Amino acid sequence: MGSTIRATGLTRVYRGEGNPRPAVQDVSLEVATGEFVALMGPSGCGKSTLLNMLGGIDRPDAGEVWVAGQRIDGLSETRLALFRRKHVGIVFQFFNLIQNLDVVANIELPGLLGRGSTAAVRVRARELMSVLGLSELAGKMPGKLSGGERQRVAIARALINGPTVLLADEPTGALDQENGQGVLRLFQELHRDKGQTIVMVTHDPKVAAYAGRILVMQDGRLVEESRPAEARMGRLAARLLGTRG
Ligand SMILES: Nc1ncnc2c1ncn2[C@@H]1O[C@H](COP(=O)(O)OP(=O)(O)O)[C@@H](O)[C@H]1O
Ligand SMILES: [Mg+2]
Repeated sequence: MGSTIRATGLTRVYRGEGNPRPAVQDVSLEVATGEFVALMGPSGCGKSTLLNMLGGIDRPDAGEVWVAGQRIDGLSETRLALFRRKHVGIVFQFFNLIQNLDVVANIELPGLLGRGSTAAVRVRARELMSVLGLSELAGKMPGKLSGGERQRVAIARALINGPTVLLADEPTGALDQENGQGVLRLFQELHRDKGQTIVMVTHDPKVAAYAGRILVMQDGRLVEESRPAEARMGRLAARLLGTRG
């Protein structure tokens, strides 16, 4: 199984803030195809900056980003926009839906901006709405939806072009616990059943625990890595063996 994302030596410095400390400093990482990875760490540690560089939304000052075998950090704006449309689906904390378009139009929009046929986009939107439990809401306006419903619409929109990687920045940050869990279970299903590669940013260890692997950031650097499932298995084994894990 190959890697979908490979980044080496990523550094990003925001200038003009009188703060010379890089927001991200010398970060290298790989995300395997089909993996669900969480980027965790306290507020301000550089998670969003790193995620944006992985998705071609922001450019590193140093280092390389490869996605789906293509080096993207040096692409022109035009090529980068094409790259994002084809390979990257993004979900944010505050949904960012278009208020005067109904649910199905929000979901279809990025598909219609691409080169796919309108008919194919319609079919895919209907499939996604069914998978995400949105079929009943197709004609509703975003303002009439709950937070959890809005985030599911945003996820469907992010998936409409069949992206190589789904990036999510604090996707449960604006949701109550129940709706947050719904979104996280959905990510797990997309990862497990559809092989969707996912990178999710969160400051919350309980949210990160839904991922297959957790990368921990601190002050712009990656400082730790863990696999929650293996940790759970280790604790279980320790309990069964009567030892302390
Ligand atoms: N556009 C920006 N201009 C200047 N500084 C920024 C900008 N965006 C983020 N920063 C700074 O970079 C650091 C990392 O921010 P960010 O990547 O948003 O962290 P996180 O997502 O972990 O909260 C913080 O110190 C933040 O204040
Ligand atoms: Mg952030």
